[in-house]
Amino acid sequence: MTLTAAAASATDVLAPDAGAPARLRFEHVRKEFTVRGDRRRAPSTLVAVDDLSLDVAAGELVTVVGPSGCGKSTLLDLVAGLSTPTSGRILVDGREVTGPGLDRGIVFQQYALLPWRSAQRNVELGLEARGLPAPERRRVAREKLELVGLAGFEDRYPHELSGGMKQRVAIARALAFDPEVLLMDEPFAALDAQTREQLQDELLRIWRATGKTIVFITHGIEEAVYLGQRVVVLSGRPGRVRTVIDVDLPRGDELAGTDLRTDPRFVAHRHTVWEALHAPAGTPERTGGAA
Ligand SMILES: Nc1ncnc2c1ncn2[C@@H]1O[C@H](COP(=O)(O)OP(=O)(O)O)[C@@H](O)[C@H]1O
Ligand SMILES: [Mg+2]
Repeated sequence: MTLTAAAASATDVLAPDAGAPARLRFEHVRKEFTVRGDRRRAPSTLVAVDDLSLDVAAGELVTVVGPSGCGKSTLLDLVAGLSTPTSGRILVDGREVTGPGLDRGIVFQQYALLPWRSAQRNVELGLEARGLPAPERRRVAREKLELVGLAGFEDRYPHELSGGMKQRVAIARALAFDPEVLLMDEPFAALDAQTREQLQDELLRIWRATGKTIVFITHGIEEAVYLGQRVVVLSGRPGRVRTVIDVDLPRGDELAGTDLRTDPRFVAHRHTVWEALHAPAGTPERTGGAA
């Protein structure tokens, strides 16, 4: 599929669904940073994300792929409410994001676990802030640790866990307060290839089990195609939506015992994303749906 064809089909996908508001909506989001000057340079403005519009439906797993420095983490911080757009807005279920909230759970690339707390107590963290009584906290934390495949590891401390296990704890913690949206910023990037593939399958299982809306950021083309129902390809900085690619691949039981990554359809999607990422600057860019 050519880039133009992909962009054309993306338009249909992004057309706002009559009556069904997007779970997550980006409306012409722009984020600027002021870069401090020094003796030689005056202060300047860096545009990290520009005119980015996108709709994500409830229960969708969308991957966002783009070159390093194109504004992916900036975008995630904006959805998380850790920073605010310079212009444009982000809506969750029609409500504008103005700060962090329990409707959004975040998993960062670095495990961000508290080293002095056990796996169980790390997962309980968000629940404490919410004022849940101790027995209820313990029950929820155990349930989420079981969901991510860590039953039996509740009392381990982060230094006693492998990288993959730490990231499972981080996912359990993000799911603990049952957020509508799960935001993931290159969560598997620091893991070895085999562990990464294992966690990708775990994430797909968790997604199917929970029905969460997931926005998964990555710089890996294969990872984007493997996980995403749609792959949003960002341009180089400032990050804009260059194209959105629909991924239709066998999933779940259909897949049993096969290596999806060698399936000709997988290979074709990977190539489409590669082409979109490598399209020369100046290729007409498009912005998605929420006009
Ligand atoms: N707080 C900040 N102040 C100034 N520049 C920033 C800040 N945060 C990010 N940037 C810049 O914005 C651009 C996008 O960064 P980032 O979102 O981290 O990219 P990515 O996650 O895609 O690698 C980079 O050029 C980065 O240096
Ligand atoms: Mg980043």
